[in-house]
Amino acid sequence: MHESHIDQGSSVPQHVAIIMDGNGRWAEAQGMSRVEGHKKGAKRVRDVISWASEAGVKQVSLYAFSTENWKRPKLEVTALMTLLATLLPLEIPSMRKQGVRLLTLGDISRLPWAARKALKKTKEATAHHDVIDVILCLNYGGQQEIIEGVKAFCNSFQNEIEKENALESLNEESFRSYLWRDDILPVDLLIRTGGERRISNFHLWDAAYAELYFTEQLWPAYTQEDFQEALNDYMRRERRFGKTSEQIREAKAS
Ligand code: IPE
Ligand code: IPE
Ligand code: MG
Repeated sequence: MHESHIDQGSSVPQHVAIIMDGNGRWAEAQGMSRVEGHKKGAKRVRDVISWASEAGVKQVSLYAFSTENWKRPKLEVTALMTLLATLLPLEIPSMRKQGVRLLTLGDISRLPWAARKALKKTKEATAHHDVIDVILCLNYGGQQEIIEGVKAFCNSFQNEIEKENALESLNEESFRSYLWRDDILPVDLLIRTGGERRISNFHLWDAAYAELYFTEQLWPAYTQEDFQEALNDYMRRERRFGKTSEQIREAKAS
């Protein structure tokens, strides 16, 4: 499994995950409301999808709403859900043109009806597209995903013998199939805008070997140059997965 990652060392990351942070601070700095910041942030979502596609990235996952974000003021939560419900379906024609398939990650059953409806419509309209996957992470939490994975694993055996066999053969790769990552490639590059240096419960399983990239830039002000700089930084890194640098060079040469 690890062998397949090594080749990517200096090539374009296949899966780029983005923690789109800083909408509120950007808006406050402009004397606008936080909701205005989220609106501006939504525009950057459109942009980053085309920049990623242009660069040859295969999957982009976007942290749009964490399991912890329910703790925000009710008005802000409602505004975020309304933005999702109203703006997402408008993107279908451009997603069609660009070959974007929409996927979601997280428990979307808890989202308001209008948001779920917009997601269903957009997922259905884009299901056959195959240029790039956009994975909207909504009501997503990495710890919750792992807990649900443990539950699914425990529900997968009927008796003691099956349980023993399942436990015996459980490893990182097989456990992955109990997570919510069926169609999702391992995260190669995880970008966080907005200056904080934390993962905030995003992609915990894949954080194990994702390359991390933090930038001060606030999400609404994020540019194609910023994105390209993150890709360039990634491509300069050597992904060793525990091996030595010499081993990696030898594997590349052969
Ligand atoms: C990220 O921006 C967007 C969401 C969490 C939905 P924030 O709203 O967290 O912006 P800051 O961190 O307050 O600036
Ligand atoms: C992380 O941003 C979640 C999203 C970008 C959706 P937050 O702004 O909610 O993260 P914390 O709470 O500062 O860690
Ligand atoms: Mg924030």
